[in-house]
Amino acid sequence: MPTYFDQAATTWDDNPVRVALMRDVAEAIFRQVQLASDMELLDYGCGTGLISFFLAPHVAAVTAVDSSEGMLAVLREKIDQTGTRNIRAMRLDLEQDAVPDARFDLIVVNMVMHHVADSERMLRNFHAMLRPAGVLCVSDLDTEPGVFHDSEAAATVHHHGFDRQGFRGMMERSGFHDVRETTAHTIRKPVAESGERDFPVFLMTGRR
Ligand SMILES: C[S@@+](CC[C@H](N)C(=O)[O-])C[C@H]1O[C@@H](n2cnc3c(N)ncnc32)[C@H](O)[C@@H]1O
Repeated sequence: MPTYFDQAATTWDDNPVRVALMRDVAEAIFRQVQLASDMELLDYGCGTGLISFFLAPHVAAVTAVDSSEGMLAVLREKIDQTGTRNIRAMRLDLEQDAVPDARFDLIVVNMVMHHVADSERMLRNFHAMLRPAGVLCVSDLDTEPGVFHDSEAAATVHHHGFDRQGFRGMMERSGFHDVRETTAHTIRKPVAESGERDFPVFLMTGRR
């Protein structure tokens, strides 16, 4: 049965709020991480590959993975249409699947962790998939009162954002060091019954 994300995939890139968020997160990653042309990058929960396409020209290869076949179908079409050679799309859901053997220099996870039930287990999986000194970049919402997602998306949400200190603690307990955070972007959007509201998005990085 198609999931919320399968159904949302075909019009995902039409939302300028998402594109602006991706751009600011990718630029924050540029500022925080030294990208290099020999790096292998994992974009976890890649969606339609907004971040993958932005970062791909600056690294050797991007493995873009998602649990939604609908998202991956849109991504594969974009890869074909643009003739992009260094992004490959694969289905992977580390909530269900075993950690694969592949290892990466950089893992980026944009707006995915609030959809994952067991955050710390997922962070340990990312730690296992990084090469020594590899870097994890997680961007997600600061704690919000449960008004960010509309009623359709709400069923997919396990966390109403994260407290940064709490998230830092989870990163450190999962084995990451040199943990840093910054505000990458602030999403301003209308929410039911209270007009417009700001939702800051943090970028937290940690080294294996
Ligand atoms: C809010 S979207 C963000 C998509 C993309 N990272 C971006 O920046 O445009 C969340 C994505 O995470 C994916 N996702 C949710 N849970 C997942 C899981 N357990 N494993 C892999 N992907 C997951 C969804 O299918 C969806 O594509």
